[in-house]
Amino acid sequence: MTMTNKIIFSGIQPTGQLTLGNYLGALKNWNKIQDDGKCIYSIADQHAITVFQDPKSLKNATLELSAGIIASGIDTNKHILFNQSGNPNHSELGWYFNCIARMGWLNRMTQFKEKSGKNSEKSSVGLFTYPNLQSADILAYHATHVPVGEDQKQHLELCRDIAQKFNHDYGVDFFPIIEPIINEQGGRIMSLKDSNKKMSKSDPSDNSRINLTDSKELIVKKFKKATSDAHLLPSSKKELEGRPEASNLISIYALLQDKTVESVLKEIGGLGWGDFKNKLADVAVEKISPISDEINRLMKDKGEIENILNKGVIKSREISQPIIDKTKQIIGFI
Ligand code: TYM
Repeated sequence: MTMTNKIIFSGIQPTGQLTLGNYLGALKNWNKIQDDGKCIYSIADQHAITVFQDPKSLKNATLELSAGIIASGIDTNKHILFNQSGNPNHSELGWYFNCIARMGWLNRMTQFKEKSGKNSEKSSVGLFTYPNLQSADILAYHATHVPVGEDQKQHLELCRDIAQKFNHDYGVDFFPIIEPIINEQGGRIMSLKDSNKKMSKSDPSDNSRINLTDSKELIVKKFKKATSDAHLLPSSKKELEGRPEASNLISIYALLQDKTVESVLKEIGGLGWGDFKNKLADVAVEKISPISDEINRLMKDKGEIENILNKGVIKSREISQPIIDKTKQIIGFI
């Protein structure tokens, strides 16, 4: 397959604010691969309502997330940015995939277990079946490549299983078997407060994450308060082993500057935490503030963001409709 044959799809939920984890794990890659093929990026608002969302907040989060995606460099003249609920083909194909995926497959999804916690009986049915809708998001476009963070890996394996079972059951070679694109470095940015937990927009502690809309002062403060350990910064990968706080902050520092961890270790090895955190905060402010300024600018003209999404919805329907029509024909619907 040539580079330009790639159809790239990914999505983000409009719940809470965009975090540095979303940026380094997903958005930065979305941006990087723009010249490799056709990109279709979706605000996964139908996924968001698997947990109740206040309608006003959902609308605002959808616009702000769209602004964040545009501000981080996605060219919406060349590529498609749209809100999932604008294209009913996703939920239609999602239903067909509910009939393909097996209960056992979904029972194994770790994200459902984490999100539903001890009280899975009280979770919405949508939260359980959501990976089927995610597979439909991707396969409604016959996408071939999906750039995501590490936490989505299991959902993408399910997408491959669904495509394979559909093709097998109906004796067709119709849905592609997708390739996940997960950066080894940056695929899993951890919380600033607990390096065993991923950085998440739903963590109750705002100090656990950097939001792309945080002010310069707040970014500096959050890095200063980030959990560290009792040793000087390491100068080799060997010394970095078993030091999760240092690994996480060094990764962030490296990724923000497109440097390798090795070169960063040479630069900062032997520094105390105070000095390193100052350097990290400086780099973060330098990279994040232009994005946050652009988000603020875009949010002043919400009509413009809505236009971009509406245009994206129309294009998304154009691509997915023939695929849904063919799917129905394969299934045997009149
Ligand atoms: P969501 O909204 O939780 O996250 C959006 C993207 O950000 C990545 N990410 C991270 N990467 C590194 N470190 C972190 N701490 C971190 N936190 C989040 C996620 O891996 C993801 O790539 N179900 C999806 C959205 C979705 C989707 C899709 C993705 C809907 N349809 C189709 C791919 C294809 C979700 O909840 O992502």
